[in-house]
Amino acid sequence: MPGNYAVIGMGFVGLSQAIALAKSGHNVIGVENDTQKLRWLENYAQGKRDDFPLYEKDLDVETREQFRARRLTFTNNLEHAVNNSEAMFIAVGTPSLGNGKAKLSIVYQVANNTAGILNKNQPYLWVTKSTVPPGTAEIIRDFFKDHNVGVVSNPEFMAEGTALKDTMYPDRVVVGAQEDWVITAMRQLYSSFLARSAGHFRAMDNVSAEITKYQANVQLAANIVMANIGANLARVVGGDWEKIRLGVGDDIRQSRFNKCSLGFGGSCFPKDVRQYRHTLEQAGASPLDLAVIDAMIAQNKEQKLVMNHYMTDYYGHDLTEKVIGIWGLTFKAGTSDTRESSALAIIKDLIRHGAEVKVYDPKATREEFEETLGLEDTSPITYCDTKEEAIKDTHALIIPTEWSEFSNPGIQTLQDLMTNPVIFDGRDILDIELFRNTEASYFSVGRQPLINTT
Ligand SMILES: NC(=O)c1ccc[n+]([C@@H]2O[C@H](COP(=O)([O-])OP(=O)(O)OC[C@H]3O[C@@H](n4cnc5c(N)ncnc54)[C@H](O)[C@@H]3O)[C@@H](O)[C@H]2O)c1
Repeated sequence: MPGNYAVIGMGFVGLSQAIALAKSGHNVIGVENDTQKLRWLENYAQGKRDDFPLYEKDLDVETREQFRARRLTFTNNLEHAVNNSEAMFIAVGTPSLGNGKAKLSIVYQVANNTAGILNKNQPYLWVTKSTVPPGTAEIIRDFFKDHNVGVVSNPEFMAEGTALKDTMYPDRVVVGAQEDWVITAMRQLYSSFLARSAGHFRAMDNVSAEITKYQANVQLAANIVMANIGANLARVVGGDWEKIRLGVGDDIRQSRFNKCSLGFGGSCFPKDVRQYRHTLEQAGASPLDLAVIDAMIAQNKEQKLVMNHYMTDYYGHDLTEKVIGIWGLTFKAGTSDTRESSALAIIKDLIRHGAEVKVYDPKATREEFEETLGLEDTSPITYCDTKEEAIKDTHALIIPTEWSEFSNPGIQTLQDLMTNPVIFDGRDILDIELFRNTEASYFSVGRQPLINTT
């Protein structure tokens, strides 16, 4: 039987959840309080404009389809959403505060407002999909102490780039709750999802569910850090990380998140690792446990600038006469999200050394990028409409993002367009053989460089 659901926050997580529920036949009200974004979504859904506020595979097409099928509507009116739903999914942002703690004020504000609207006798489900630290469900429960509300911790494990697919076909659904009726209702709600994916339903208490999300991200982040340490070693002593990682990855226990890169970024791993550290500290963890997480954070910060270090080794520290091309501004391919991307650190460092940069990304918007960059003076940055334009008359190219359109640039194009074809491949996506016996020099993360000394 179709259910009536509200989803709060129309970002990557909320929109994917709303569409997945609508595609499963339910009636969904998407609540978004950014009025500009709300209008944009509505206009897109009604076919009045053709650009979408974020890039994520299939979200645009499916938004229009579910809207036209009258299963998905949008509003900024929380009262309308509460009064027309039996469960509410919370997918608002929980970004890092300066001290590493996640910002929870929006979650609590929505809980407070919902408690003020909700009929006290109406059975209702509050489902937290936002990533929140252990203990949050307990605080939320307090807002609803006079109500008949089941407070559910249902962390989201989808990845940007495959958000809708991951939501529609979850490998697991983690549900933390206190009451049996709540667990039963959630099991039923997700039964069609799990039947599609043959995924697991993991019922547990709220705190365990909250920790599961952080633990999952911190362990994946640790894999990335270890892969980058290995790739840096391979480069120095004569190995090839691409071959090493495949050898390591044949053991299925080791096969994920072992590509080398310029470190992890995005809206989840960095902030979740910081919040995890904060939680450990609050819980009185040993200095050694804290030191492990601190070392991960420090290594990851340093890794973002590996290509910059190779560049200053090559050109010296004064880059005032240099123009550098940048291919990719997002934290990974498949998304328009630039939050904590490697390109931010790379570009700031280049500008600090006096360089000018020409940047190109197939999906990131200039407006969002500049907001995440946070520089007052962006005059050294030129935004380009094509990847070719971004390397024209440049002294080097850095590739921070693994968009597939960057993987086969053509050596002749590089040589023809660039003043000096020096390539810094931050994702090891180019075939190194392309550069042998050419005018170009090629640096990557996990392989020895090919330096043209002529
Ligand atoms: N992005 C991911 O890959 C991912 C994956 C798993 C979990 N998460 C977690 O899910 C949560 C949401 O992440 P996201 O990337 O979708 O965030 P996002 O920033 O893309 O979207 C959040 C949306 O909520 C809206 N919003 C803020 N306050 C609101 C309010 N009071 N009422 C209605 N809407 C409001 C914002 O305008 C924004 O559109 C975070 O806690 C994040 O850590 C994210």
